[in-house]
Amino acid sequence: MRLPNPVLRLSEPDAAEDPLVADYRELTDAALRRRRDAEHGMYMAESSRVVARALAAGHRPRSFFMTERHLPELAEAISSHPDAPVILGDDAVLESITGFHLHRGALAAMHRPVPPEPEALLDAARTLLVLEGITDHTNVGAIFRSAAALGVDGMLLSPTCADPLYRRSIRVSMGSVFTVPWARLPRDSSDGAWASGARSIREAGFLLGALEVADGAVALDDPTIRRAERVALILGAEGPGVTAGALASADVAVEIPMAGRTGRHEVSLDSLNVAAAAAVACWELGRRHG
Ligand SMILES: C[S@@+](CC[C@H](N)C(=O)[O-])C[C@H]1O[C@@H](n2cnc3c(N)ncnc32)[C@H](O)[C@@H]1O
Repeated sequence: MRLPNPVLRLSEPDAAEDPLVADYRELTDAALRRRRDAEHGMYMAESSRVVARALAAGHRPRSFFMTERHLPELAEAISSHPDAPVILGDDAVLESITGFHLHRGALAAMHRPVPPEPEALLDAARTLLVLEGITDHTNVGAIFRSAAALGVDGMLLSPTCADPLYRRSIRVSMGSVFTVPWARLPRDSSDGAWASGARSIREAGFLLGALEVADGAVALDDPTIRRAERVALILGAEGPGVTAGALASADVAVEIPMAGRTGRHEVSLDSLNVAAAAAVACWELGRRHG
């Protein structure tokens, strides 16, 4: 297949030492990737479908990385970025570089877009989720997927929340991290506090709710929430939940009533997984746009 792009074949001598290939080394080491991705202003798109979605969202590729047999799936998209080199190799060579088998097709090292400032979302949105300290990439991806599928306008991330552009978050989100607008709230102190962000959400006219099982909480479908013009809901991490500081900064605590409390089941559970709670909240928030 003929492409206008430069092609680097890993079967050729010394090709694996090319600096372009370094972007794809040791992808399974999350800490190493975080450092490297931040240093180079990049992120990794994994699977042909995710690469296609990233390109469709207007993100720019640094290079592509795949076996020859996956080339046809992306040939058109690749050709429309003729400056981005294409690195080709067989399965074993690609796996020896990345650390895992590429059964989902292509990878692409992408230039990381600069996220908007929180103010841009506060100006434009009517419904927001605020992810506080959610460090699990699977949960972050699943929450983005629900927000995209159920029509929430955007996402604000606390300073310690995991990166939506880490490859696991991207994959679980089905690429919705490229289309749901998100911004990072400023860090007020070294412990990751974000009280100034909470203030700016309320000053922008949002009812700020802490989604948490808490004393005095109103139910998610309470008229206080239904009637508010603009709503932002804080979600907490598995284990700690919404922090005391965030609960105190919120206008109201909001809960999804748990059936276990009624005694209809033998096992009484106190809470949902955060991504499941987010899906229920997105359904409720999404209905406001009707
Ligand atoms: C597993 S829960 C937090 C842990 C919980 N506080 C504990 O004691 O282990 C993770 C997050 O999901 C959300 N959540 C889960 N179940 C909820 C419910 N029934 N009502 C409101 N929020 C809920 C909250 O945002 C919570 O911070």
